[in-house]
Amino acid sequence: MVKNEFYTLYNGVTIPKIGFGTWQVAEGEEAYNSVTYALKVGYRHIDTAHAYGNEASVGRAIADSGIDRKDIFVTTKLPSHIKDYQGTIQHFNQSLTSLGLEYIDLYLIHAPWPWSDIGTDCTQGNIQAWKAMIELYNAGKIRSIGVSNFHPADMQVLIDATGVVPMVNQIRYFIGNTQPAIVDYCNQHNILIQAYSPLATGEIVNNEQLQPLAQKYGVTVAKICLRYCLQKGTLPLPKSTNEGRIAQNLELDFTIDQADMTFLDNIGRIGKIKPYRS
Ligand code: A2P
Repeated sequence: MVKNEFYTLYNGVTIPKIGFGTWQVAEGEEAYNSVTYALKVGYRHIDTAHAYGNEASVGRAIADSGIDRKDIFVTTKLPSHIKDYQGTIQHFNQSLTSLGLEYIDLYLIHAPWPWSDIGTDCTQGNIQAWKAMIELYNAGKIRSIGVSNFHPADMQVLIDATGVVPMVNQIRYFIGNTQPAIVDYCNQHNILIQAYSPLATGEIVNNEQLQPLAQKYGVTVAKICLRYCLQKGTLPLPKSTNEGRIAQNLELDFTIDQADMTFLDNIGRIGKIKPYRS
């Protein structure tokens, strides 16, 4: 079953093939209840970020689940405006405290630029942050390190400066928005792609072009979207606060045939979401 399957990062760390996304899940009861339910139905991979503001409730849900810490894969992220060495160490420690954890399974630079200033050149700051993360990784505080929303040039400067290739790049990825230049670069460097907003933040779950396929396979459009990510070798991070949908998004044990995958590969942009930069 997909929920018990793993990818292996290039450093040998295994990571459950589906993660539970918590972007836009409110701190407090909503985050606590969603993560609690996700763990109950079998998710073992939770994705949060300092910027989501919900690390405390995510951590509380993990602690109260009774599941062994080693059996849950936890990702969090360095805020996008922190672009220096000391700030990275401080924010990492703050995330550990908020989550109530002693180590993080995956720590990501949230974006190559501050969200308030998309597209600015933060090359030197990203290198400093990356050096701090390498140190935390070598000290055993983080089991794997990576980036998010990085383009090939953004990743290449980190590699050139340190020799350390990110293990993961978490990008916005869904049917019709598959970012081939980033994916090709990551495949060449053995960097796992994590797909955030795999349902286009809900925008494509009622898409008419996808309905016939959902009917053909006897599943929902949401499942087609998530299964597509898996068959492309990416790791989807669906978000939901609804118990039925949280459970549904983990039941992906069917196969989209090659002809239909080709159709989906070529469907073109659907929905209104635009790239951050061209
Ligand atoms: P809800 O939280 O009410 O379930 P993404 O994962 O791309 O960020 O999309 C999340 C959005 O998609 C949320 O609005 C969520 O709403 C909705 N969603 C999540 N799972 C499903 C599903 N299986 N069917 C329909 N909508 C879903």
